[in-house]
Amino acid sequence: MVAALFRRDTRSSAAKIRRLITTLTESRMAQITAGTAPPDLATKIMTTVDPVDGDTFTTQEMVDQVAIFFLAGHETSASALGWALYLMATHPDWQARLAQEAQQIDACDFTVMSKLRLSRDVFREALRLYPPVPMMVRETTCPEQFRERDIKVGSQLVISPWHLHRHERLWDNPDGFDPDRWHTENGQKCGREAYLPFSAGARVCPGAGFAMVEGPLILSRLLRDFRVEPVDARVPVPVAHLTVRSKDGIWLRIVRR
Ligand code: HEM
Repeated sequence: MVAALFRRDTRSSAAKIRRLITTLTESRMAQITAGTAPPDLATKIMTTVDPVDGDTFTTQEMVDQVAIFFLAGHETSASALGWALYLMATHPDWQARLAQEAQQIDACDFTVMSKLRLSRDVFREALRLYPPVPMMVRETTCPEQFRERDIKVGSQLVISPWHLHRHERLWDNPDGFDPDRWHTENGQKCGREAYLPFSAGARVCPGAGFAMVEGPLILSRLLRDFRVEPVDARVPVPVAHLTVRSKDGIWLRIVRR
């Protein structure tokens, strides 16, 4: 029933990805059994014993874990990068500043992050205006009160980064693109208290740190070599699918610098 909701090629791509992950996981499991596995994160996860029931992941469970990381890490970052590039196309002044920042850096590794301040500010601003996960659902585990209304235990609450990030009573210029805001008092306060692109608490995104390196770094590298320009008057219309997508895609012209 669920499969019928997806296009045939989507299903076949999903099966291909799962097969690939299964092959990699099975081969690592074989290395672990043979005692030849490298001591990396995958081996650690696959050999760590659950303190409660003493079990380790089965191959199938590990495939599920890798698959969710693949989905959660790929779809969200792609959405954020798509919107960040659109914002660069529509704000050529900022695009020029990022290109200049990128051209001053020759290495491409984690150590350059401290020099990519503008790219980071722009990426954070893209995550504010177009949070890839626009809403999340949580269930209350104790009685709560919101605006003088009692919320019963077990109620479902929708938390919406989309609304929070553009809240008029909280943010200065809430709908405007202003990466400099992160250095103002209002931006810093809202960054701490009203900014949830990666959720918060026990189920916070475990990839947040990685995403905040990967996103600005890829953005910077792209803009170092290419210029992005809007295509005609095609203004993308955000829609909430699994992530915030544009209804008819994000159309940009890419020109080598
Ligand atoms: C800009 C990029 C990203 C954004 C905006 C983002 C956002 C989020 C959000 C909001 C959640 C919580 C969803 C919910 O509770 O309903 C989440 C969960 C998760 N994210 Fe990310 N994410 C990003 C990148 C990544 C990356 C790169 C990885 C992995 C390398 C990743 C792995 C995960 C996983 C495994 C979960 C589920 C955690 C759990 O339920 O305990 N994410 N992400």
